[in-house]
Amino acid sequence: MQVLILGAAAGGGFPQWNANNELNQHARAGDPACPRQTQSSIAVSADGVDWVLFNASPDLRQQFTENPAMHPKGNALRHTPIKGVVLSNADVDHIAGLLTLRERQAYSLYATGRVLETLAANSVFNVLNPEFVTRNAVKANTPFNVAGLTITLFPVPGKVALYLEKEGEANFGTVEEDTVGVEITHGDKRVLYVPGCAQITDALKARAEGAELLLFDGTLFVDDEMTTTGESIKTGHRMGHVSMTGHGGSLNAFDDVEIGQRLYIHLNNTNPVLDQSSKERAVVEAAGWGVAQDKMEISL
Ligand code: MLT
Ligand code: MN
Repeated sequence: MQVLILGAAAGGGFPQWNANNELNQHARAGDPACPRQTQSSIAVSADGVDWVLFNASPDLRQQFTENPAMHPKGNALRHTPIKGVVLSNADVDHIAGLLTLRERQAYSLYATGRVLETLAANSVFNVLNPEFVTRNAVKANTPFNVAGLTITLFPVPGKVALYLEKEGEANFGTVEEDTVGVEITHGDKRVLYVPGCAQITDALKARAEGAELLLFDGTLFVDDEMTTTGESIKTGHRMGHVSMTGHGGSLNAFDDVEIGQRLYIHLNNTNPVLDQSSKERAVVEAAGWGVAQDKMEISL
């Protein structure tokens, strides 16, 4: 099984268009310690030929152009190695790329019923011609097969997408289909892709036990890193993301779980871990974590 990191950053990417802190300035200036990262997506293949895309980021066109595995192959005038697209939630950074995947090209789209409802309610997604793009509502904990991979969506604590929040309603974990983790299996190899998760539960730890690879929500290093600087009015918790450090932080939450490799993904542009020379990056690595980067390839 091959796992290709298309986008390691969270929504906004790194640098983000309007972000002007030191970290983003370094990335914009081309500091080799702060490599630029595009928005949240991976591709996985059982055979290195056919691929399944997990989340469709606003940077999809750039990601496909820059990664040869995503290019059309052979002599046909239209082709894509992408056989399926799986969504983990309806966040902008995970669905906007669907608009790039239009034209008369056949593939299957998989997501929970809740996420598909959101697409159905936004008529701009009608650019995905239903004669070519089938939309498949997937139940949680019910495996399905695409291109030789067995895929299972499983609920994780999370929340509705930002733009679906309603004043006066509890927007956290109200419906289990709002945010899911993805388990990808090929032969005896298992990968978990969890780019958004509000809390690390025993159920999640049990699922992670024995996995070859865990790609986990690395949005923020500290829960209040955007509120203390005034860059945002929201904490990580408020956005539905457990942070790396602090109470219940992800850094040590999987310490008693046997996992081949653990990598942070979906890093927000304020997370100091994006700077490879930072003390926070050293802390993360000392705790046994790596950090995903655009174009990283992992063979299992
Ligand atoms: C998130 O991961 O919380 C969202 O992508 C945030 C956003 O939509 O800006
Ligand atoms: Mn996001």
